[in-house]
Amino acid sequence: MSATARLPAPLSADVVKGDMFAALRPSPCPSLLLALGAWLAACGGTTQAPATAERPVLADGEVADAPNGIAFPAKYKNWPVLAVSQQADKQSVTIVVGNLEAVRAARKGQTNPWPDGSVLGHLVFEQSDMSTVPQAIEAGRFLRAEFMFKDVEAYASNNSGWGWARWDGPELTPYGSDGFESECLDCHQKVSGSDWLFAKPFTLP
Ligand code: HEC
Repeated sequence: MSATARLPAPLSADVVKGDMFAALRPSPCPSLLLALGAWLAACGGTTQAPATAERPVLADGEVADAPNGIAFPAKYKNWPVLAVSQQADKQSVTIVVGNLEAVRAARKGQTNPWPDGSVLGHLVFEQSDMSTVPQAIEAGRFLRAEFMFKDVEAYASNNSGWGWARWDGPELTPYGSDGFESECLDCHQKVSGSDWLFAKPFTLP
């Protein structure tokens, strides 16, 4: 393996743009980067990441909108985890991730109601036995991503104050057809008392 193969893929402008953590990270030191570039050039390498079968980080607009016009929130991969669950009967494990507004609200315990601008992602994986630890399970194949977008005014008409959308499989195919949200609403209605959420964000010390 060449030295270049171990370098992480450089983030594209699309990924960096709107990245809520950009401000928290120290900016890369230009002289270090220049030195690295010179070293790579001297070794006959390039700064390009190797092509891999792994799906690249998606930029806005690369995934089709949900039938209700909600756009896929491509930055979800950068969002922190707020809750974890396992549904034994469905053999699935799920994590709930949240954007910056949602994370702030969760950390302050202000989640009933969640503030406008909060977006929650529900990432569902097939439950899989952990090969290295027989008694443990882990997230296996990715099944789907479901999202709730809080905007009381924009989504007043469905009574929940949330916009609903789902994308299926590794290709992130938009789920459903016109009016599909009624499925989400019918089931989540049971928990309208906790602002339509089943999961409870965990508390961190
Ligand atoms: C048959 C019931 C049912 C339907 C239909 C359903 N959900 Fe859920 N949803 C759940 C349950 C139960 C959980 C929590 C358990 C878990 O994590 O699997 C959940 C969790 C979620 C979460 C994480 C926040 C929370 O409430 O815990 C999101 C986001 C979500 N669902 C979005 C959607 C969207 C979008 C749709 C419609 C496309 C939808 N759901 C349809 C039952 C349902």
